Amino acid sequence: RILILDYGSQVTQLIARRIRDAGVYCEIHPGDVDNDFIDAQEGLKGIILSGSHASAYQEEALKVPSRVFEVGVPVLGICYGMQAMALQLGGKVEWSDQREFGYAEIRAHGHTRLLDGLQDFNTPEGHGILKVWMSHGDRVTALPPGFKLMASTPSCAIAGMANEERGFYGVQFHPEVTHTTQGEAILNRFVTEICGCTHDWNMPDYVQEAVEKIREQVGSDEVILGLSGGVDSSVAAALIHKAIGDQLTCVFVDHGLLRLNEAQQVMDTFAGHFGVKVIHVDASEQFMGKLEGVTDPEAKRKIIGREFVEVFQAEAAKLKNARWLAQGTIYPDVIESAASKTGKAVAIKSHHNVGGLPDTLNLKLLEPLRELFKDEVRKLGVALGLPPAMVYRHPFPGPGLGVRILGEVKAEYADLLRRADAIFIDELRNTIDHNSGKSWYDLTSQAFAVFLPVKSVGVMGDGRTYDYVVALRAVQTTDFMTADWAELPYSLLKKVSSRIINEVRGINRVTYDVSSKPPATIEWE
Ligand code: XMP
Repeated sequence: RILILDYGSQVTQLIARRIRDAGVYCEIHPGDVDNDFIDAQEGLKGIILSGSHASAYQEEALKVPSRVFEVGVPVLGICYGMQAMALQLGGKVEWSDQREFGYAEIRAHGHTRLLDGLQDFNTPEGHGILKVWMSHGDRVTALPPGFKLMASTPSCAIAGMANEERGFYGVQFHPEVTHTTQGEAILNRFVTEICGCTHDWNMPDYVQEAVEKIREQVGSDEVILGLSGGVDSSVAAALIHKAIGDQLTCVFVDHGLLRLNEAQQVMDTFAGHFGVKVIHVDASEQFMGKLEGVTDPEAKRKIIGREFVEVFQAEAAKLKNARWLAQGTIYPDVIESAASKTGKAVAIKSHHNVGGLPDTLNLKLLEPLRELFKDEVRKLGVALGLPPAMVYRHPFPGPGLGVRILGEVKAEYADLLRRADAIFIDELRNTIDHNSGKSWYDLTSQAFAVFLPVKSVGVMGDGRTYDYVVALRAVQTTDFMTADWAELPYSLLKKVSSRIINEVRGINRVTYDVSSKPPATIEWE
């Protein structure tokens, strides 16, 4: 196993991610653990020291436990980690006002086991160059005894150092970020060739480790979880249930703004198939009542968020023995909402959790997915036996159809929209693109129908109709911050439109949204 000591960099989890991707087991621990902790590590093959916001030279800066350099395993220091290594092993570090941020080209020196042959290109003089991402002010100005120069840039004479005999390496750049093109290869080489780890760790192993961790954490306590049917809360529920069975109770709040048959599917999967204790609260009338007459999008969001918290809290209060509140917080939520400092609990963005659940519940937080990225959460879900269609489902906003019915929300509109949306999704799933062999559902990142509360004239059979309009929205994106409208085949749009108009009485016109984000947003409200 690889031990990662975290000194507070926002990208420490990326190091873990790259190592997991290489099929090697790793654990992140706070950088201020003591020497006994290092001695107690079983099967330790190598240690990585992360970057930090702090300066290694500041007196109050964290120190690396001295045993790190004595237990006889290779050590890789990244940025702050390299500076701390240099300082503690007898080198020099100086603060500098010449800061280096972003893209840099560094020159590799000598032939080190870490960088040899991994250069992106060679200069005409024959120097190997790596394209990297740097973010630092301080720098190492004198090598510790026994080290040689491994890399440099014009403004940073010692951008990499190595003591090959002891397997100690320091890099001033960040190999864990994708901007460092050879970063993955460098980390891979460190953990496999230098530390001697094998690529045999996988998702089922992760399940077992996570299960043990949850059991250890909660003991015989009871846990409560708000199940939304979305990927994150579903995977968290399945994982926690595997760990502690009936000590877990899920509360599934149906606000009446879910997709067609969604409540039934959630109950079938969790209560039915997995045998999880799920309290299904049908609060649709309560939500609809509160939304009556409200047209402003933000006001609607706030009402839905507030009601959700109220309903959830009322259910939680009935579970007298619950001591933990489980949440499907994943790593990107943590980065977004935290000026991250190791291991500290952080507030959840309201966006992610329908208003965010209140801390007045006096429950401890259990967040077993905190270290994982979305695609890892999906793989974990599959490993736990969740249906792939659920695990690979497009994201669905917390306020649900509430932000897809423009203006006032009415039960009648929600019914029409649910049916139109289901037809659209059905056809996306069933239409295969012949170039890629994938369905259009998988080729789009998010797709849905939007209800427009305006009426237009149509003709059906011999009669005139005067009915509502739906807009279809389908986008392609990787980060949801920007998005392109999807160039769906006309034949697909034609079929969807004809099915909606024929099958959903009350809708006589279908349009396709051809706006990208920005300047439009993905949702219409
Ligand atoms: P926009 O519309 O801002 O959406 O381009 C970006 C992504 O966020 C989702 N979204 C929400 N998710 N609560 C949520 O949980 C919300 O209030 C909310 N509003 C937007 C949206 O579906 C898209 O994936």
